[in-house]
Amino acid sequence: MPRPRPRPSAASAVIREMALGDLPAVFALGEKLFPADKWPALYRTWDEYELAVHFASDSETCLVADLDGEVVGFALGTLLEKRGSAWCYGYLLWLGVDGDIGRKGIAGRLFERITEIFIEQGARMIMVDTDAENEAALAFFRKQGFAQENPHVFLSRNLSRDPDYLRHRDGPPPKRRKPATSSRPNYAPGKG
Ligand SMILES: CC(C)(COP(=O)(O)OP(=O)(O)OC[C@H]1O[C@@H](n2cnc3c(N)ncnc32)[C@H](O)[C@@H]1OP(=O)(O)O)[C@@H](O)C(=O)NCCC(=O)NCCS
Repeated sequence: MPRPRPRPSAASAVIREMALGDLPAVFALGEKLFPADKWPALYRTWDEYELAVHFASDSETCLVADLDGEVVGFALGTLLEKRGSAWCYGYLLWLGVDGDIGRKGIAGRLFERITEIFIEQGARMIMVDTDAENEAALAFFRKQGFAQENPHVFLSRNLSRDPDYLRHRDGPPPKRRKPATSSRPNYAPGKG
């Protein structure tokens, strides 16, 4: 039986802008890294719309780590401009690296490149968010110099006993919400 080809060293990974043809590989890697039950974030979930819409609106800040033709990591970001403020923020929405090639500096290189792009676009601050129990991500971001950690609480209320919900339940199927045009958070430093 032929032996599997050894993977080239992580150091030879190329960080480049994401191309249309990368979408299936990025989506598959994201599904592995962001299963809905692991790091649930109600305002943002990893799905085809999230990736495709983000790629269409912010392709400059969609990067992949390409190791000999294989996508082993990605970083997706967007530039936020706050109304009434001269400040622009680079917001890193998704960062992921294949666990088989973890701790080899790939995320560090993706982060370095996206930071350069944010600066070229005029950002004066970079923001990230992650689950409070995502120790790997927190360790990573702290190592990258993130220090201001502002807790943000998400609350939910089950609507399945709400009279309106019960009335609608047996009616025609609900209209599917159109995907958001971009995964921007509804908060930014200094707001609310
Ligand atoms: C977090 C993540 C992006 C790190 O990717 P990576 O390529 O392994 O990171 P790097 O090799 O660049 O790590 C740099 C530093 O981050 C920290 N770090 C990374 N992974 C860590 C882990 N599992 N445990 C503790 N610290 C970790 C370390 O300080 C590491 O430096 P060291 O290896 O010299 O100790 C990767 O683990 C991942 O994709 N996780 C799942 C998705 C996710 O949570 N993304 C972030 C939120 S969107």
